Amino acid sequence: MKENSAFSEDEIFVTLNNSYEKTNVTIAPATEESIAEITKIEAECFSEPWSEKSFRDALKLSSAEIFVALDDKMDVLGYFVLYYSSDQGELQNIAVCPGYRGYGIGSLLMEKLISESLKLGMSQIYLEVRSTNEPAKELYRKYGFIPTGIRKNFYRFPTEDAIVEMKNLLIQI
Ligand SMILES: CC(C)(COP(=O)(O)OP(=O)(O)OC[C@H]1O[C@@H](n2cnc3c(N)ncnc32)[C@H](O)[C@@H]1OP(=O)(O)O)[C@@H](O)C(=O)NCCC(=O)NCCS
Repeated sequence: MKENSAFSEDEIFVTLNNSYEKTNVTIAPATEESIAEITKIEAECFSEPWSEKSFRDALKLSSAEIFVALDDKMDVLGYFVLYYSSDQGELQNIAVCPGYRGYGIGSLLMEKLISESLKLGMSQIYLEVRSTNEPAKELYRKYGFIPTGIRKNFYRFPTEDAIVEMKNLLIQI
């Protein structure tokens, strides 16, 4: 089991647009208890979702990090999975609960992804994104990711190209 570091200081205040509910959002390392909720969000977001076992396996890997966005009740609102090897990181997945999108949670997760990658000594972060996934492509553009290639028909359900993107952490943009 990996050592679970203390909560980061990343915190935002979210106001939902369909109610007067308000909550702080904190970015923290995932734990075994987070995995069921992560798996539920994953299933809501992707046509070929990772299984609960895939997340549990990733949590145990010394070459992977999973972070979650938590509300005041410690419910999971979003997450990302980073794999890394040598000085290269790969963003495996990032998602925010459908009802909580557009409030800056994806941005907070990206900021943690970048700071964590720097802490781990990464030089580049790579990712793949569906060619039609405009919100994700905009999010990655906002954080300095640049398209570097295309994998034809990489995704299924529906079949679609993947855009390969990279952020060079040695260059400050
Ligand atoms: C991509 C995703 C993680 C963004 O999360 P989010 O919490 O809505 O993101 P934020 O509110 O922090 O928005 C960050 C940026 O993303 C972009 N963005 C977010 N929603 C957008 C939309 N509907 N259309 C276009 N751009 C959008 C904007 O650039 C925004 O920056 P701005 O607020 O400064 O304009 C979320 O849409 C999601 O979970 N999608 C489903 C899962 C997925 O596709 N993951 C990526 C797999 S490659």
